[in-house]
Amino acid sequence: MESKTRNSLLIGIVGMAIALLYFGQIYFGASDADGSQSVSNPVPEGFVVPDFNRVQLAGQIAFEANCQVCHGQFGLGTNKGPPFMNEIYAPPIHADGAFVFAVAQGSQQHHWNFGNMPAIAGVSDDEVIAITAYVRALQSANGYE
Ligand code: HEC
Repeated sequence: MESKTRNSLLIGIVGMAIALLYFGQIYFGASDADGSQSVSNPVPEGFVVPDFNRVQLAGQIAFEANCQVCHGQFGLGTNKGPPFMNEIYAPPIHADGAFVFAVAQGSQQHHWNFGNMPAIAGVSDDEVIAITAYVRALQSANGYE
């Protein structure tokens, strides 16, 4: 009898742990393949979010769906990927073609220590062009050009 009580207590605890893990994932948002959390860098004081045109707004939507988990809100970076608000990602060092190439082929780690960027499936060339326009608008509004 006593061990039966202990067993059901154990089952209860395990069940609660699984539920916590499951709802924790939903509550705290996306996590990537290694299971660890993506944490966006904070928006610095004085950061300028310009008025976006139609293409840039489409780019923002595609960026938030496909890139933000690593490159952060407004491209400010996360613990999973570099910020685009940075001279090295402005032209001419990284011209617009670098975006098309990175999305299609991925990018080997070379500037940072975040690891490789995987190729991103399901993003059309038009979407990458719009994403680039969105990133460029943020870069130039904040003096990275
Ligand atoms: C899983 C994380 C992840 C996602 C998602 C991701 N990236 Fe990256 N990206 C990286 C990392 C990490 C690097 C830096 C590699 C290095 O240079 O060390 C990078 C680098 C880049 C570069 C620079 C490439 C170069 O030539 O140096 C571009 C451009 C880029 N990403 C665009 C994008 C775009 C656009 C999206 C969304 C469609 C995206 N990334 C989604 C992780 C990611």
